[in-house]
Formats: sequence, C-alpha cells, structure tokens
Amino acid sequence: MRVSCANFDRTGDIMIIPVFKDFDKAPNNTTVGLGRGPSIAVKAAAASDAISGKVGESLSVWTKGCTVIFIGVGKKGKLTHKVARDTGAKCLASLSKDLGSDIVIRFTSGWSTENMNAFAEGMMLRDYQFDKYQKKDEENNHDGWTLECQAHDRHLEALSESIEKASLVTTGVHLSRDLANEPANRLYPEEFGRRALEWAEGKDNVEVEVWDYARLQKEGMHAVIAVGKGSIRKPCMVFFRLNPNVQSDEQVPCIVGKGITFDTGGISIKPSQGMWDMKYDMHGSATVFGLFQALWATGYEGRVDGITCMAENMPSAEAYRPGDVIDSYSGKTIEIFSTDAEGRNVLSDGLWKAAELNPSYIIDLATLTGACVVALGQEASGLWSNDDKLRESIRQAGNSVDELAWPMPLLPAFEKEMTSSKFADVRNGGKGRYGGANTAAAFLKQFIQEREDENGDKSEIPWAHLDIAGTAWNVDTNACVANGGTGVHVRTLHHLITQG
Ligand code: BES
Ligand code: MN
Ligand code: ZN
Repeated sequence: MRVSCANFDRTGDIMIIPVFKDFDKAPNNTTVGLGRGPSIAVKAAAASDAISGKVGESLSVWTKGCTVIFIGVGKKGKLTHKVARDTGAKCLASLSKDLGSDIVIRFTSGWSTENMNAFAEGMMLRDYQFDKYQKKDEENNHDGWTLECQAHDRHLEALSESIEKASLVTTGVHLSRDLANEPANRLYPEEFGRRALEWAEGKDNVEVEVWDYARLQKEGMHAVIAVGKGSIRKPCMVFFRLNPNVQSDEQVPCIVGKGITFDTGGISIKPSQGMWDMKYDMHGSATVFGLFQALWATGYEGRVDGITCMAENMPSAEAYRPGDVIDSYSGKTIEIFSTDAEGRNVLSDGLWKAAELNPSYIIDLATLTGACVVALGQEASGLWSNDDKLRESIRQAGNSVDELAWPMPLLPAFEKEMTSSKFADVRNGGKGRYGGANTAAAFLKQFIQEREDENGDKSEIPWAHLDIAGTAWNVDTNACVANGGTGVHVRTLHHLITQG
C-alpha cells in the first residue's frame, strides 16, 4: 500500500468519510472535489437515517467516478486508538477491488493525529495476504492500494511523519507474518538463517550471523541440538545485530525468539488434530526478525541484539527421548519429561548466550504453552519478568499499540518445582498440568545469568518472557489480521525500544 497525506482536494476511486455517532449532516469538506450531482446525493445520504455513526456501521454511495463510503466510529469523545485502528482495518477488508485501487480518506474534524494515524495504520496492517503458493487470478490486475489521508493543513506535517513511520513498522509486521505463515517444508531452520542473511545483504548497519550444526556442536549448544537432532533439517541459531558500531561499550536490549519451525511434539508426539498449525511454533523468531526489519526501516540509531533458536521437533531414530538427561550451554543438565516441552529447551541455550552480550535487558518471545492460551485466551500474551520496571514498561508499550501483555506470576514455588528433578539440575516439565505457563516461565528463569554491579553486588539480568501461543495465530478478534500469523509484538517492541 502506498500511503500519503494531503489536504481536502482530490476524491480518488473510493472516498472514505469516517463519521461520529449521531452526526446529522455531511461533515464539512465531505464533498470537496465531487461534482454537483454526486455532492447532492452524498449530502442527502449523510442527512438520512441510513447511518447513525455507530462503530462499524457503513453506508456506500455510488457516484460516477467515486464511491463514497461513510464509516461510523462511534461517540466523538470515546474514540480510542484501538477503535480507530480496528475500524480502519475492517474498512479496508470490506473494500472490493472492483471499485478501483485509489483510496482517499477524509478526516474532516474532531480527529487527533494519533487517531488518524491509528485508522490508517489499521488499513495498512490489514492490507496483507499470504498467497505466494496460489495461482493468481488472471483477471485480477489490481496492483495494490494507494491511500491518501486527507486532513486540515495544520495536521499534515505531524500526520505524514507518523503515518510514514507506521508504514515502515508495518513492513516488519508483515515480514513476521510471512515467516509464520510459511509451511515447515519450505521454512526450516537453515532456510530461516538463509533469509536472515539475505535480508542483511546490502544493509550497512546490520549484522547477521548463523551458527550451523557444526558450530552449535563446537560452542556447546547442547539443548538446541537435542531438540533439533531428530530432524534431517538441522537446527541453527541466528544472531541479529542492528548498528553494531554504536554504543559498543553500553548495555543494549537483547531479544530472543523460540524458532521451532515445526513442532510434532517429537517422541512425546502430539495428536494429529490441529498439528498443521504447529508451523507457527517459530513465531517468536518471526517477531524477532520482523522487529529488526521495523527498527532498521525506521532508522533506529541504537544498537540492538537478537538471537533466534531454530530447530524442527521431530520423532525419529535420532530424536531425543523422555527420560533423557541432556546438557545445555549453561552447564546445567535438564531432565526431559516431555520432548514436546521443546521450546524451553532451545530457549535455555539462547537465554544463557544472551547474557554474554551484557544486555541492558533480555526479552524472550515464545509460543511456549497451551496452558497460557487456557489462562488468557487469545486477547493477551502472558508476561513474566524478574524486574518490576521492565515488566511495567513492556505492559505499557503493549497497551499503547493495543497488543496486550498481561502480567503473570513468577513464584518461588514454581521454580522449586522445576528444580526438583531426581536426575538433573532442572526438569523440563512440571509435576502436573497445573500452572503450566507459570512453570514454563520458572524453567526459563533458571537460565538467566547473574552479574555484578559496580558495588560488587550480584543480581539477575532484567529479563521478561512473553508467551505468545494464544496471540500469534488465527486470532478471530484481531481486526488487523484476516488469518494466520499475526506478527504480534513487533509493534510493542518497536515502541518499547524506540520510545520506551
Ligand atoms: N508449541 C507448543 C505450545 C503451543 C500449544 C503453542 C498450542 C501454540 C498452541 C509447546 O512446544 C508445547 O508443546 N507445550 C506443551 C508443554 C507441555 C508438554 C509441558 C503444552 O503446552 O502442552
Ligand atoms: Mn511442543
Ligand atoms: Zn513448541
């Protein structure tokens, strides 16, 4: 989607006029640029009882050359960025390509820059489909939408700036959805690594390094290897770095992603029903990759690190088993209760490694547990942290972009449960099913290193864990995505890092 801003002038093929609840006539500037006949028809429609302005209501008026669509956004005082974004998204989804491809949207009066931006952002986010493996319809010669956002002159400077930024962040969200939607026969660990390398090519302020199987063995990434060795698609780790040459002596964020390109469960195999969706078990890594795209595209000048732990979890003669005691990069041993609790295993190596980069904080993202979906549904990601400030800033960043991250408890009892193995230092499953998302987080915490501050006091590195099992895929209530991967938390983390 090509997006621009202008004042009220041209009309386009499709002209969208958002209206507030109980408006009684066409807002000022509605008909600028329309001929006399169309103007009369449009004004009559606005003044009629055919639309009241309730959220989601719409009324289309066909005129020769331009279809005018009124869209209700509810009470003026109640308009939030969430309502604006969702309405924009639903509006785009409802447009027929037969009407043309040139959209004009008129924010007549009563609009803040933030809400105009959110409406346009909703349209941009929703303008996505993953159809690369489908034959194109011959008759479809629509080569993408253009969107012109029209507002009063005094808004234009701020509006263009924020819309430009939103459109660049959207490239990261869409990249992350693309990766999540790729089937596992086409996107396996080394292919993810190859795409990351390809992405870095020609960008002079990014560095991507891929550790292949041999390198993982040399470095002692035993947990990633244990999970990945059952597949002929070998595991790897991908290291992202933005602006490697700046602030090299300062602490910067490190974002870690679970990248299971397919999760069969391994020897603890999953039931076949619904298993096809387990190609999105790498959405944590997809969010990391998309985040780097968003940060790079918007010209973020700070240094940021990312690590993705890539493996395919398959049953085979070479697969790891329940009961195995595996080594990990940390030196701690892990007793495997379920090979299906593989995400935490690969993350244990990634999190331990993250500490070596001396980060300001570590955030991991993972489609980690079905239990998190049971606890929170699909409306919010679970958020665990060993640091109150970090937890609160992630929660706020999530709220400000409407990607909720809901605080969950990291209780000592859960840690005790996960360190109660009779054969190893840590166990990869809880004693029962209760609190499964919490015990998973407590497991991860065992791999957050301590470090010494200036006074010689030791403390854990600030760390947060986002369980995105419920929010990353097929979220019917997410107006900004039709189906499949959601690209969740690319916007949250972009906001956190650039303005948090
Ligand atoms: N990838 C799954 C979690 C998951 C489930 C993500 C549903 C998205 C939707 C994860 O690897 C897993 O299998 N977790 C197990 C943990 C259990 C074996 C302790 C689970 O949630 O059942
Ligand atoms: Mn699993
Ligand atoms: Zn998994």
